[in-house]
Amino acid sequence: MASKKNAAKRIGILTAGSDCPGLNAAIRAIGKAAKGSFGMDVVCFQDGFQGLVEDQVFEPSLSGILTAGGTILGTSRETLQEAGSDKSEAAVATYQRHKLDALVCIGGRETQDSAYLLSQKGLNVLTLPKGIDNDLAMTEVTIGFDTAMSIATAAVDRLHSTAHSHHRIIIVEIMGRNTGWLTLGSGLAGGADVIIIPEIPCDVRKISDAILERSRSGRRFSIVAVSEGGISKDTVEFFERSKKVNQMNHQGEELEMVEQQLSKLENRLTGNTIFLANRLEKFTGLETRITILGHLLRGGDPTAADRVLATNLGTTCVHLIDQGIHGMMVARQNGSIVTVPLDQVIDKHKQLPLDHTWITSARQVGTSLGD
Ligand code: F6P
Repeated sequence: MASKKNAAKRIGILTAGSDCPGLNAAIRAIGKAAKGSFGMDVVCFQDGFQGLVEDQVFEPSLSGILTAGGTILGTSRETLQEAGSDKSEAAVATYQRHKLDALVCIGGRETQDSAYLLSQKGLNVLTLPKGIDNDLAMTEVTIGFDTAMSIATAAVDRLHSTAHSHHRIIIVEIMGRNTGWLTLGSGLAGGADVIIIPEIPCDVRKISDAILERSRSGRRFSIVAVSEGGISKDTVEFFERSKKVNQMNHQGEELEMVEQQLSKLENRLTGNTIFLANRLEKFTGLETRITILGHLLRGGDPTAADRVLATNLGTTCVHLIDQGIHGMMVARQNGSIVTVPLDQVIDKHKQLPLDHTWITSARQVGTSLGD
């Protein structure tokens, strides 16, 4: 959008969506650069867009937060446009009341959508990409991903000893919504024997075959890293058929209603790790256990890589505000910090490309991807 040199004096910051390690490093970088290097005032909003809509501000200390997990600003999953309600006018009013020159929104996919909406309403908005899922388009990495990948890798490492000692299958379920970045990255780093990701629907018989093959060659245990959004080929095919049948037999509201019900059912059958464990135990005859890492992946101190990324994105963002640039996400592409217009970020979803080198490497070291 605009790029006219304009001395911005007051900036707002908020963190929205799920928390993750590295958010405080970004807040600190923005706050310190804005106040110390550019002489700006900083207004912090509490709990994401909720704080912007309800005008809840406070003045946190920016010292001693670089290494802390979570977000000192608080967060919420509230977006500006939820079913039937548009809260953007209230958000615009808060921005104007505080006489802000720019607003920085740190968040994932939904945050980018709300930030874009505000920029369409004429506010000077910049965003930073965050999230353990790494599913945001137009950036090669998001704040928090590296830390979560390290935590998941440490878990896969630790699970090896019990799997080995008890000759078991251990299935470790890893977050990531409907993308497999976190599971594939940590599975690869931790040497998981099978890695199941949403981008590659799996066949439980093939997974069993891979595990039995390991047993035959004397390796009597297996670690299976499965994405929370992992799905089987059978399930994908069943729903594709059901959707076609629905389209042939229904129209209008009825078509939409059945489609919604099918989607709900599909979501329930996605990431069904207990079902996967039961079937693997039955097919292989090996004792099987499950570990669900859940929110452990979002806690604790950020890694050095996340601290550097967050600091780099944060200070660049303030420099851009000083230059009068807005309507952009500050991102990383090919190792460099770049700006991407928000309209190129929204409504997208960065899945793992099937020709990604991580997939190729996993296959070449003999990891089964369950297909
Ligand atoms: O987007 C981050 C994430 O941790 C996903 O991996 C996970 O599916 C989701 O958030 C969990 O959300 P909540 O914390 O609201 O349960």
